[in-house]
Amino acid sequence: MEIFLDTVNVSEVSLYRDFIDGVTTNPSMIVKSGLVDYKASIKKICQLVSGPVSVEVISDKYDDMLEEGKQITKIHNNICVKLPCTFDGLQVCKKLSSSGVSTNLTLCFSPAQALLAAKCGATYVSPFVGRLDDIGHDGMSLVEEIIDIFEVHGYETRVLVASVRNLQHVIQAAMLGAGAITVPSQILKQCFDHPLTIKGLENFTKDWKKRK
Ligand code: E4P
Repeated sequence: MEIFLDTVNVSEVSLYRDFIDGVTTNPSMIVKSGLVDYKASIKKICQLVSGPVSVEVISDKYDDMLEEGKQITKIHNNICVKLPCTFDGLQVCKKLSSSGVSTNLTLCFSPAQALLAAKCGATYVSPFVGRLDDIGHDGMSLVEEIIDIFEVHGYETRVLVASVRNLQHVIQAAMLGAGAITVPSQILKQCFDHPLTIKGLENFTKDWKKRK
């Protein structure tokens, strides 16, 4: 399973680069980070990781979205163009995918959207599990349904579990056989930071100091 870091923070990418295969970003995240020259940060991130770095288009109409997607690919050859699972977004996906551009179909909330993303040649489709959980649905059930559909029909589009809120999402995604997951740094930290490991290590060190 590929692990991506869900961030636009260069220091976080640098800190966790040994554990991650790529990075995902979104417009809200970029605005929240306060970055003035976000493209420069994206470029630095692309130089730190060998895998895909997803950057999302802002436009919502076919022509603008296509042009924006093409511009985004110029940042670095690791770029994966992130497009919404909409009528226009799916068509742009088909166009870009057919010319070999890596694509990530985002804001996926139903198996039908994922099916169309696969038919349009998407490299990744991103079901948003946390946002579904937030409204009382079961986000991981959506992941399971999409994986089943892709397996039955042999689609190569990878399921990228997004909007991850907790460690359980990571474990369930791995158990279901998702192709990829994107995690915020605080969740990635929880993957190795176990309180019993920390306590155990403290005790080993304490005991070692007592040796004669
Ligand atoms: C990543 O591709 C998504 O944009 C991100 O995981 C969304 O997370 P959120 O639902 O916590 O905003």
